[in-house]
Amino acid sequence: MIEIENVSKHFVSRDRDRVAALTNVSISIRRNEFVCLVGPSGCGKSTLLRLVGGLLPVTQGRVVIDGQQVSEPRAETGIVFQSPTLLPWASVLDNVLFPLKMMKRVTRDSPNRAKSLLKLVGLDGFEGKYPRELSGGMQMRAGICRALVHDPDILLMDEPFSSLDALTREELTLELMRIWREQPKTVLFVTHSIPESVMLADRVVVLSPRPGRIAEIVPVQVPRPRQFGMEALDEFQRATSRIRQLIFGVERTTVH
Ligand SMILES: Nc1ncnc2c1ncn2[C@@H]1O[C@H](COP(=O)(O)OP(=O)(O)O)[C@@H](O)[C@H]1O
Ligand SMILES: [Mg+2]
Repeated sequence: MIEIENVSKHFVSRDRDRVAALTNVSISIRRNEFVCLVGPSGCGKSTLLRLVGGLLPVTQGRVVIDGQQVSEPRAETGIVFQSPTLLPWASVLDNVLFPLKMMKRVTRDSPNRAKSLLKLVGLDGFEGKYPRELSGGMQMRAGICRALVHDPDILLMDEPFSSLDALTREELTLELMRIWREQPKTVLFVTHSIPESVMLADRVVVLSPRPGRIAEIVPVQVPRPRQFGMEALDEFQRATSRIRQLIFGVERTTVH
C-alpha cells in the first residue's frame, strides 16, 4: 500500500550546511500492516514519517500510496504527534470533530462517530470537558480519536506515548492494538523504545544515523493478540536482541 522508493531527504541548515537526514530508504508496507520505526535520536524517523504524511517534500526518490505519488498531505492519512496538540478553547468533542470541520465533512452522524471513538478509548463522559481538565494520557487518547475520526486508512504516529508515565503507556499500547484489530489500518509508528516496537509491530524498521538509512527490517513473529508478559517469549527476545545489536553494535548484557 505504501511504497517508499529510494527516498533521500536533505535539509539545508541555517549556516547553509547540507544535512543528509535520510539516504536511499526503500520500504514496501502492506495494507493494514503495523510497522514501527526505531533508531537513535536524529536518525531521521520523524523526517520519514513527515515524508509519508506529505508534510515535507522528498529530495530524491518517491513515496507512493495506493499508486499515487505523495506530494501533499492526504485526507485519508491520520497523524498523531508526540504532544497531543489539542485546541485549548475547544471541548474534547469539538477537538475530535476538528479534522472533519476542516475538511468540510461533518454530517449528522459525525458527533456519534466521535462519541463512539471516545468510548473506545475510555473517554465516554468527557465529551464536554476541556483539554486542561484532562490528564496527559487522556489528552493523548483524545488526540488519537481526532486522528481516527475521518476513518483514515493510514495512521502515522510519532512517539505518541513518550511523554506519558510507564503505566499509562502500557495501557495505551494495549488500547492501540485493540483499535487496530477492530478498525484495521496501516500504521507507521515511531518509537525509541525497543520493547514497545516489538510489542506493537509486524515488522520493525531499524534506522541508523548519519546519514539515516535502513540498517535492517526485523520481522516480529510474536503471536497476536499480544499482551504484556509476552516479553519472555523466545520470539520476543530474539527480535529485541536483534534490534539492540543493530543499534548498539553489540549484544547488551544485564548490568547487576
Ligand atoms: N527542518 C529541518 N532543518 C534542518 N535539519 C533538520 C530539520 N528536520 C530534521 N533535521 C535534521 O535531520 C536529521 C533527522 O531528524 P529527525 O527526523 O527529527 O530525527 P529523529 O526523529 O529520528 O530523531 C537530524 O540531523 C536533524 O537535525
Ligand atoms: Mg523524532
